[in-house]
Amino acid sequence: TLLATAAILAVPAMAAAQTVGFAQIGSESGWRAAETTLTRQQAEERGIDLRFSDAQQRQENQIAAIRSFIAQGVDAILLAPVVATGWDSVLEEAKDAEIPVVLLDRRVDSSEDLYLTAVGSDLEHEGEVAGQWLVDEVAGEDCRVVELQGTTGSSPAILRKSGFEKAIEGHDNIEIVRSQTGDFTRSRGKQVMESFLQAENGGAEICALYAHNDDMAVGAIQAIKEAGLNPGEDILVVSIDAVPDIFKAMAEGDANATVELTPNMAGPAFDALAAYWKDGTQPAKFIQTESKLYTAADDPMAEYEARKDLGY
Ligand code: AHR
Repeated sequence: TLLATAAILAVPAMAAAQTVGFAQIGSESGWRAAETTLTRQQAEERGIDLRFSDAQQRQENQIAAIRSFIAQGVDAILLAPVVATGWDSVLEEAKDAEIPVVLLDRRVDSSEDLYLTAVGSDLEHEGEVAGQWLVDEVAGEDCRVVELQGTTGSSPAILRKSGFEKAIEGHDNIEIVRSQTGDFTRSRGKQVMESFLQAENGGAEICALYAHNDDMAVGAIQAIKEAGLNPGEDILVVSIDAVPDIFKAMAEGDANATVELTPNMAGPAFDALAAYWKDGTQPAKFIQTESKLYTAADDPMAEYEARKDLGY
């Protein structure tokens, strides 16, 4: 028995897998689906036990998921916050339980000491990149723009709007004539674009569409075609995300430009968590991802091929 006990003690203890709860928004867009897929992949590669919750776009479901992760005693929580406000209490609960929270892709207006870090793009800059593309493209010609906003109250909807407005400021030839939420979905993008077309003389008065994500742009492209117009030509189309379908649309001449948002937010998030778990290393409060502009001149079919298997 003594020998057997010694043999057991000699076996190095296997490190227990870290458990991470992921409070995801839902699956409103192709981009969101890819983020979910890549988060699962990244967790698997690192031996992390990922517990996933789909909030179906509702903040109360996300709050309930976080509370459940706290009760389960997870080692960390990833949160992609559907809206920017209303997180203080639940983030304080996580802090009291000493569970680090990492924000993915969207921001909150809570105090920075309530989360470990935020991984995401400069959302306002994305809007500015899209706006600057339009400023250059129309080169002083008059341009009436319709805007499809993301989910009301979400940080990308707020900041992509203000960023675009900043870029067109001082260019009196460009005017946003209609702006409404399409909730980041393809179906709402189509529906709202139909109402814009109707209100703007069948689309004859519209020079460009700015959509806060590609999915809404893809829905709107369909509406423009059904109205008998050529998207990409009669109505310029600029949006954000760089999902495979927008590159297909670009290759077909139906879309003009997109600003890339990487769906791999989990990689940098898990890196930050690994360092934190190891020796308490505090990451920077904001880990910024790139915002690259792609246009039809960038070989859109190659970009499509490069992304089509990433779970979009
Ligand atoms: O928060 C990022 C945004 O959320 C993406 O641009 C959009 O597609 C998603 O739904």
